[in-house]
Amino acid sequence: MPHALIVGDDVRTRTEIATVCMAAGFVVTVAMGQRDAQQQISGQPPDIAFVDLNLPDGNGMVFFDKVEFRTLREIVLVTGEATVDTAVEALRVGAADYLTKPVNVRRLQMLLGRVARQLELKAMLAGSTRDAARSGHFGGMLGAAPVMQKLYHHIGRVAPTEATVLLLGESGTGKEIAAQTIHDLSRRQRQPFLPVNCGAISPQLIESEIFGHEKGSFTGADRQHKGYFERANGGTLFLDEVTEMPLELQVKLLRVLETGAFMRIGSNQELATDVRIIAASNRDPEDAISDGRLRLDLYHRLNVFPLLIPPLRERGADVALLAQHFLDDLNARHDTEKILSGDGLASLVGYHWPGNVRELRNYIQRAFILSDQVIDAAALAPAFTSQSPVGLALAIPVGTSLAEVDRKLIFATLELCGGVKKRAADILGISLKTLYNRLEEYGPHDAVQRESRDRSQV
Ligand SMILES: Nc1ncnc2c1ncn2[C@@H]1O[C@H](COP(=O)(O)OP(=O)(O)OP(=O)(O)O)[C@@H](O)[C@H]1O
Ligand SMILES: [Mg+2]
Repeated sequence: MPHALIVGDDVRTRTEIATVCMAAGFVVTVAMGQRDAQQQISGQPPDIAFVDLNLPDGNGMVFFDKVEFRTLREIVLVTGEATVDTAVEALRVGAADYLTKPVNVRRLQMLLGRVARQLELKAMLAGSTRDAARSGHFGGMLGAAPVMQKLYHHIGRVAPTEATVLLLGESGTGKEIAAQTIHDLSRRQRQPFLPVNCGAISPQLIESEIFGHEKGSFTGADRQHKGYFERANGGTLFLDEVTEMPLELQVKLLRVLETGAFMRIGSNQELATDVRIIAASNRDPEDAISDGRLRLDLYHRLNVFPLLIPPLRERGADVALLAQHFLDDLNARHDTEKILSGDGLASLVGYHWPGNVRELRNYIQRAFILSDQVIDAAALAPAFTSQSPVGLALAIPVGTSLAEVDRKLIFATLELCGGVKKRAADILGISLKTLYNRLEEYGPHDAVQRESRDRSQV
């Protein structure tokens, strides 16, 4: 059974934590302070330790420094109040997480679930990945690869500041989860975190969605509407796919960022706003600027602290860690105990994942459905080839027009690249702008459409 040690003399908090731990199947032991804890740890090191920042015999931070506590793998710091500096400092020196009093039960349960899963994973993964599994997470982000550790370090630095962050990285690399982590580690953590997908809102509505509108300001505005800036006040606004925002709106956004004030549509009254901006894009912003999709002045304003989220193919054994995490999640939800075979894991690690973590998650889900008990390489292989239903070759009958060949090749390449347009453009040897122009010309083409078309042909 997993073992939790609770260190501290605050009886109420100890009881709160112990109750949740026991319900999650952990054996619980308790220590008043450092000395007491030290004795217990030398006897039997726990799988997780909850350490109060204020101990009767000193500061809980010593657990990260003293050599006698080095054997502790997961230390969760428990603080009386949420001081961001302490929280960030704790994560930086190696804490698994931090809890504030009174303890948030849901958060604690999630933490315990993760520890339990990691223990199982550790039992399963061999040799080199064992160390990676040991400290492979930062907030909700999983991964122990050196590129990820560097990213965690940068996030830990920038989170408690007010700096605007620009998250760049391929589709599915985890930009949104990184944005959430930054928010959770900031002074704004108890205020809203509002994600806005600038590419998904219709251009007609986006201005009103972002800035709000007054009743009667346009046809259909039958009541006052508070926009994202107002609703996120005091918190963080996550502008996803910011390069997809209409250009006129980019001018307005820039003005808000510079003046800290905005107006609802149909109003002359300026409203002050206190919002931290995190923006993200899966395009190269320089390309977006040269394509005329992103204003240079807005880019300069957003590019205060750029963070590059590395593609999954650069994260080595993290593929196994994430795969196991997604599988654990499915097992928990379906009350099953399916496992990944060794060769299944190896096949995952060998793949190049053009759609990154999202693609991996979808593959695991598919393999989970297809397999009974053991998910092996055979169960995963069809998933890889289905990545490109047209296969690696296109059969083109003589008599096809050049325009049609062009269309087919573009869509097939896009699918092969998991929808990553930059890569598809590179393979096709055309500029990203040309690719976008062609896609606009050829109209939308997505899996759903194709599926319904295929069905109607049957
Ligand atoms: N390091 C990670 N640990 C755990 N889950 C992750 C990690 N990175 C990504 N994920 C999961 O993968 C999926 C895709 O992540 P996310 O939506 O953050 O990607 P994204 O970079 O915003 O993609 P896009 O550019 O397509 O919007 C989500 O379900 C997310 O929870
Ligand atoms: Mg996203």
